[in-house]
Amino acid sequence: MMPRFPATRFQGSKRKILPEIAALLNNERCDFVIDLYSGSGIVSLLFRYLGKTVLANDYLKYNQNTAGLFLTFSKSELAELDAEADLNFLLRHVPDGRKSIVSDEFAGVYFTESENAEIDNFCHNINEYAGFKKSLYIYAVGQALIKKRPYNLFHRANLDMRLKDVKRSFGNARTWETAIGEHALKCIKELAALPELGDKGNKAISVDTANIESFPQHYDIVYMDPPYINGKLVPVNYSNFYHFLEGLCNYELYLKNDKRYPHRPIVNFDSAWHKRDSALAMLERICKHFSRSTIIMSYRSDGVPTPDEMAELMRSCGRTVEVHSAGEYQYALSKNNLNEEIFIIARP
Ligand SMILES: C[S@@+](CC[C@H](N)C(=O)[O-])C[C@H]1O[C@@H](n2cnc3c(N)ncnc32)[C@H](O)[C@@H]1O
Repeated sequence: MMPRFPATRFQGSKRKILPEIAALLNNERCDFVIDLYSGSGIVSLLFRYLGKTVLANDYLKYNQNTAGLFLTFSKSELAELDAEADLNFLLRHVPDGRKSIVSDEFAGVYFTESENAEIDNFCHNINEYAGFKKSLYIYAVGQALIKKRPYNLFHRANLDMRLKDVKRSFGNARTWETAIGEHALKCIKELAALPELGDKGNKAISVDTANIESFPQHYDIVYMDPPYINGKLVPVNYSNFYHFLEGLCNYELYLKNDKRYPHRPIVNFDSAWHKRDSALAMLERICKHFSRSTIIMSYRSDGVPTPDEMAELMRSCGRTVEVHSAGEYQYALSKNNLNEEIFIIARP
């Protein structure tokens, strides 16, 4: 029985299909695994749990931080913490000479005045910590901020949605109003509830896969879960969804917010996966670069390019390819199910 992995509201997280991913890995002989688009970090955490040596990659620094934490934390480090006291200091202590970049630049955009002040405090005080502690609190506070956002995203300046004095029939109001520190503490407790995990030199990096040829090649498995373009041709742009969290890793980025947009993105990264043709070209380069590795790709049945186009391209690179539904391994039989999680497995 697998332990309970930490909850996350990260869009596209594979938390719900971790048992299926574990079953796939258990069928492979593999020691070295790369998680090429690590996102919430939850799949990297699963790989660590399964005893693999893991390299996680994501071009967003907040996601790199999460994967790095998940791949290296130990139970003893967590047990030694007084997380409640630390969070109280990080969020409430107003240091001398503190800047108020978030309060000034993001007034009325995502969070209330007092929450913005807490974020400003945090971004100063976090520099008192390094290594594991720094990484843990950036993770936990970032998760708290995600929970407090309508839709759990930073793609719209819609604080008013949270504050509107209307009777909300759905259960979000309480989550939105729960304090940052309280949400963060809960995240840390979830991590602490995991069993002791090994660490075989795991690591997380933050490199755009546009530079795929610079990646090491010795992986038995390349797991890839890139952003996808849905059936209505709308790409999932993670940089636009989560830009605000990058500021927790680099405070000065909040100054770089782009005022041409109401939601003031602080980073704006393009990705090959935002357009059909560049996605196919990227996949081809990945197939060629990791020529000795088995590729396990998470995808959706309504994705553009279509799963069949992806599979065909991988075959044209000389691979043997299977497409499964993530649940019951009946993808071919259930093509009428328009939006389901699938795996494309491509062997050299
Ligand atoms: C679908 S999510 C991964 C979800 C992850 N498997 C999970 O379970 O949470 C895709 C991730 O790819 C990252 N990404 C998108 N384009 C990228 C690129 N060109 N290079 C590196 N990372 C990229 C995004 O930041 C995002 O976190």
